Amino acid sequence: MSHNTFGMDVKTKRFVEYDSEEELQALIPTLSGEVLHIGGGSNLLFKGDFDGTVLHSAIRGIEELSSFASNPFMNEDEVLVRVGAGEVWDEFVAWAVERGYGGVENLSLIPGEVGASAVQNIGAYGVEVKDVLVRAEAIDLQRGEKRVFENAECAYAYRQSIFKNALKGRYAITYVTYRLQKHPQLKLEYGNIKAMLSHKAQPSISDVRQAIIDTRNAKLPDPKVQGNAGSFFMNPVVSREKFLSIQKDYPQMPFYDVEGGVKIPAGWMIEQCGWKGKSLGRAAVHDKQALVLVNLGGATSDEILTLCNTICKDVQEKFGIDIHPEVNFI
Ligand code: EPU
Repeated sequence: MSHNTFGMDVKTKRFVEYDSEEELQALIPTLSGEVLHIGGGSNLLFKGDFDGTVLHSAIRGIEELSSFASNPFMNEDEVLVRVGAGEVWDEFVAWAVERGYGGVENLSLIPGEVGASAVQNIGAYGVEVKDVLVRAEAIDLQRGEKRVFENAECAYAYRQSIFKNALKGRYAITYVTYRLQKHPQLKLEYGNIKAMLSHKAQPSISDVRQAIIDTRNAKLPDPKVQGNAGSFFMNPVVSREKFLSIQKDYPQMPFYDVEGGVKIPAGWMIEQCGWKGKSLGRAAVHDKQALVLVNLGGATSDEILTLCNTICKDVQEKFGIDIHPEVNFI
């Protein structure tokens, strides 16, 4: 249970943790059957026991890469930081903010680990990891070879990457290098962040981190207290025509213009369907953020899945839009 934040009581045949690339490479020939590489387990829903090997990285370390004066991809305001995939994401964010390095403060308090940040392209409050990620180092779980993926090779999009699609399950991320700013430019445009900081003449990244932490704490349930996997669904992107036709009926609907169409918050649609704060068995829709499903205690994966399917059906019936889980079903 300690490796899945939904708090499912499931077992695996074999669980292996490694703390170096060499150790992982040595392990590969011993792997047989299904292999699942996990991070903090904050985006997983186990449908039952796992009949294979679960791998987990304990590669640690946060290293500031030294002078890049001769590097054409950098300027002197930037610092490159190489982080072990097994570092806890928010500990890295805290490390950066303490040093005054900007770029990841809006991603404060996201559960999970550094390796997963590169796989999931985690995002919140107007920032995505793809905006700061330089490269991800990885080991091929079939051949044991090391490969370095530059940002452009990772095929990043909203909550998507090559590691979730074309190369799903093939590589284990070992290190991620991020580009941070020594003179941060704050990103305050999302939601109420600017309003929360309006009493500060010149907010610092530390103030931004605190505002994000306060907002998240107010809206999102703490997995240590109540099992959950953060946003259960992705926000759908629909065509402009479709958006305009729905907007006629729901003029107050929030939306964001994005590449390829208009993004509509699934949480809003779920709330409109009357699901916010409601439960089905021991699975429930969080009462402060309808995008999050919670385990009320002892919920089975079937109960979560039934709730998920019922919500998807209701959203489809009311809005004619298919929403899809962000959580990975195992
Ligand atoms: N809304 C409602 N009712 C709800 C939830 C949301 O009406 O129950 C409305 C809000 O009022 C707002 C809009 O929907 O107008 C967007 O809500 P919010 O800012 O809370 O963000 P979100 O789209 O629901 C996404 C991410 C979150 C991230 C926030 C903030 C996804 C799948 N989720 O949620 O990420 O923290 O934006 O940037 O994109 C996560 O991935 O686990 C996660 C929590």
